[in-house]
Amino acid sequence: MCGADVNRLREITARHGQEHVLRFWDELSENQRRTLAEQIASMDWTALEKMKSVLKNKAAAPTDAIAPAPVENPSESETTTARNEGETAIRKGQVGVILVAGGQGSRLGFEGPKGCLPLAPITGATLFSIHCRKILALERKYGSKIPFYIMTSPSNDATTKTFFDQNSFFGLDPSRVMFFMQGMWPALDEHGRLILEDKGRLFMGPDGHGGILAALRKNGMLEDMTRRCLTTLFYFQVDNPLVEIADPVFIGLHRLKGADMSVKVCAKRDPDEGLGVVVLRNGRHAIVEYTELTKEQKHERLPDGRLKFLYGSVAIHVFSLDFLRAESERELPVHVAHKKVPFCNADGKIVKPDKPNAFKFEKFIFDALPDAKVVVNYVFKREDEFSPVKNSSGADSPATAQADMIAKFARWLNAAGWKVPSDANGKPKVKIEIDPCFALGPEDLKRKLSPSWKIDGDVLLA
Ligand code: UTP
Repeated sequence: MCGADVNRLREITARHGQEHVLRFWDELSENQRRTLAEQIASMDWTALEKMKSVLKNKAAAPTDAIAPAPVENPSESETTTARNEGETAIRKGQVGVILVAGGQGSRLGFEGPKGCLPLAPITGATLFSIHCRKILALERKYGSKIPFYIMTSPSNDATTKTFFDQNSFFGLDPSRVMFFMQGMWPALDEHGRLILEDKGRLFMGPDGHGGILAALRKNGMLEDMTRRCLTTLFYFQVDNPLVEIADPVFIGLHRLKGADMSVKVCAKRDPDEGLGVVVLRNGRHAIVEYTELTKEQKHERLPDGRLKFLYGSVAIHVFSLDFLRAESERELPVHVAHKKVPFCNADGKIVKPDKPNAFKFEKFIFDALPDAKVVVNYVFKREDEFSPVKNSSGADSPATAQADMIAKFARWLNAAGWKVPSDANGKPKVKIEIDPCFALGPEDLKRKLSPSWKIDGDVLLA
């Protein structure tokens, strides 16, 4: 790297008050210099200025009045009509699936992408395997093609792709599995300065699941969706093994109402549960984060005793392609979180802070909601569809997700007329795992139920 290049880097960084990032330049190897120069060259300085102003102005949550958003609890006949609509769309090949898997999974602390976590109760099938086999089962059931779009981040893209390769794409046709990377954003210290993670590298982290909107556009995914004649996209997160991918009823409701963006919602377990609730604000739909509700709002009850702000979102959505396209051109708000980020100090030493030292910035997908003219908030049964893996133990951990998977499969078996042995609390005493390609739901299972099934030790053999 020649002197003129370095001068240019000094000029750019100085213009933005970030010249400190070059303080170790003379000590860096040629490779380190190239890395740092690339990071500086590709820095989104406009976004950085926005982050600095977010820090300065510490935007308060909007104080406009909110009301609970209307939710859909379809009757049996409405459900049948919606299912028919959704199934027809899947059969016609108009439905695609989007998975956001670019997160860092820091709370879980698993080495590698979260989708590579072994989770199924008996086989230890991974989250990616569970999701992919559901899509494969849907393709077989409906005789259709379901393109699968997976968002990764620069930190886990290569490992994710290798994992899919090594596992033969879990049976999916690789030509229908598209990987694309989200953007990376820097973190700032309390003075709005970029953080060096070592002498020659800036700390960068994924720009939040809301980063998907820009990433879909920049990586040509919207064009790919158009080329494949998709109109409706089902969106979910990698950490939920219970998700009913491309649920035809949800898709059908969304389409029949002509919705732009739809949200699966479930009743909060208690007033303090940390789910964002669906609301109307100034006549527009929105999701208000748990932390933005006042204590009164969290606890307020209707005359019938139910919580006023009862319904929470679990980040399962349906989008129309037109809405995704329009949103991909808009700027989402920037959210900030104060976190611990190891850094390289002025002496060149790596410091592991014991209290938050850095501001990290993220965009959230649900901030697209206020732009949607028509929204369906569809109520689902949490125990059947939501059990996220966030922590290594305790609540929302692999152990709770496995127990919830077993309980769900036990309900399917019981509904099919088979008595699953259970303890005094109704908890199954056996481990159960049902491959999505064997049965996608209780109806499929009922058709396949056989008297030859038996329990061997604590395992049900089917
Ligand atoms: P979480 O907000 O739970 O974050 O992501 P996380 O990264 O998985 O875990 P923590 O907070 O570090 O412990 C919810 C979903 O959004 C995706 C995640 O992969 C997960 O599917 N996500 C999150 C992204 O794709 N990109 C991001 O920048 C953040």
